[in-house]
Amino acid sequence: MTDLTPINFSETDIDQIAGHAGRIAVFVSPDGRLDAGARRVNKLMRGALVRLIESNKFASLKPGQGLVMAYPTGLAAEAVDVIHLARRVDVKEARRAGATLAKSRGTADLLVLAAGMRRVAEMAFGLAMRDYAFEDHKSAPKPRAGAVTVMCGKPDAAQADAMPLMAIAEGAFMTRDLTNMPANVLTTTEFADQLAAMEKLGLKVEVLEEADLEKLGMRTLLCVGQGSDSPSKVVVMQWEGGAKDAAPLALVGKGVVFDTGGISLKPGAGMEDMTMDMGGAGVVAGVMRSLALRGAKANVVGLVGLVENMPSGNAVRPGDVITSMKGDTVEVINTDAEGRLVLCDVMWYAQDRFDPAAMIDLATLTGAIVVGLGHENAGVFSNDDGLCGDFLKAAGAEGEGAWRMPLGQAYDDLLKSRIADMKNIGGRAAGSISAAQFLKRFVKDDTAWIHLDIAGVASVKSETALAPAGATGWGVATLNRLIANRFEAE
Ligand code: BES
Ligand code: MN
Ligand code: ZN
Repeated sequence: MTDLTPINFSETDIDQIAGHAGRIAVFVSPDGRLDAGARRVNKLMRGALVRLIESNKFASLKPGQGLVMAYPTGLAAEAVDVIHLARRVDVKEARRAGATLAKSRGTADLLVLAAGMRRVAEMAFGLAMRDYAFEDHKSAPKPRAGAVTVMCGKPDAAQADAMPLMAIAEGAFMTRDLTNMPANVLTTTEFADQLAAMEKLGLKVEVLEEADLEKLGMRTLLCVGQGSDSPSKVVVMQWEGGAKDAAPLALVGKGVVFDTGGISLKPGAGMEDMTMDMGGAGVVAGVMRSLALRGAKANVVGLVGLVENMPSGNAVRPGDVITSMKGDTVEVINTDAEGRLVLCDVMWYAQDRFDPAAMIDLATLTGAIVVGLGHENAGVFSNDDGLCGDFLKAAGAEGEGAWRMPLGQAYDDLLKSRIADMKNIGGRAAGSISAAQFLKRFVKDDTAWIHLDIAGVASVKSETALAPAGATGWGVATLNRLIANRFEAE
């Protein structure tokens, strides 16, 4: 797994500034007041820092953005990063400041002078999250960046505040690595092995093999994988940090390691992007990892359906009728609408076995959600206003885009089949909603449920606030916050 950049917090020692050989970062508020570290930097540079701060260029920076002073006189450092940041910084600005440093630092050791700064841990979180590169398959990977030292007011408190945040960053890195991995490397077996390895963090992990799934009657899940040489699997991860008798939150992820479309083959252009079609399962894995790393006081069970959707002589055909674990029959009109076939069995199993307090599924489910919401927001569908409101609030606080979409009987009617209980597609119009309605048929009436269609946000072509281009880790921070707010015992 891609390692987090280690970040150390220490007391401010301005005597180390002149001789620091890497980069130095300072934060300057719009009023131009300098903290002890910045004052020393300015003095050593014979006033050049203040000249920069008084420039129009500096004034036009947004909070969290910065300018670089390269090879400054008076300092051993190769550069000074000057970050524009109000004294009353909010969480997003602090994170953005950290991300700015991560982007500019290259591989140098970084000394961050934060004596006068609030939300130091959030700044460090932004730095850690943005300091990510997926280099597993470069024959000459870039050397990993050097150490980061943050000199700040209360280093012990900052360190303590940073612990749960770094657990989230580490979870998000796992999500990103899994989502970025090519399908010849991240097979269903490799995926299950990586999840099983999380037992050493204190998670209980079970891998259900095809014979087990067959016994459980998960025929809709199995039919998706039946054209592939990779075996279908369901992995169950349990984190039991809450009260013994408290019903768990269930997280369910779509883990299609590659989606060719099957017999309803996708067009060639862009098909390579379907390596990210396990993004939902990747988020579930990342959240479980962060819960274990931060020792969350909640009961959460993560379930992922791992399959590969391939065409072959054994593949499921359009027109086939399949019986789900629930017992409902599905007419497979389009083998490319496979995610819902995987999820419906895993969701039913999750409710049947765990009787969860709430269930949240995540899936790169429809291209239609990308048409509707682009790459800015995931589609949020829910049968429970309270749970959904809490989720949207958590997403807002984390800066992860999420937008609620409607459900309703008229959309469900689109799934009517002449010969079976339902079809697996509802047509072009409202494609993301009919997909959600399909899933809703496998949600028990008394289960509070959210469906997250993350097709537009799981992996993107250009960088976002806290991630480079590629897999984003969207959702790991939001779900951690939702769990902390709603499911963790005091
Ligand atoms: N994995 C795709 C959805 C997808 C599209 C994810 C773009 C990420 C980016 C899903 O399995 C799929 O193929 N959906 C079809 C559904 C259709 C056949 C009803 C789609 O969106 O075209
Ligand atoms: Mn598909
Ligand atoms: Zn898919």
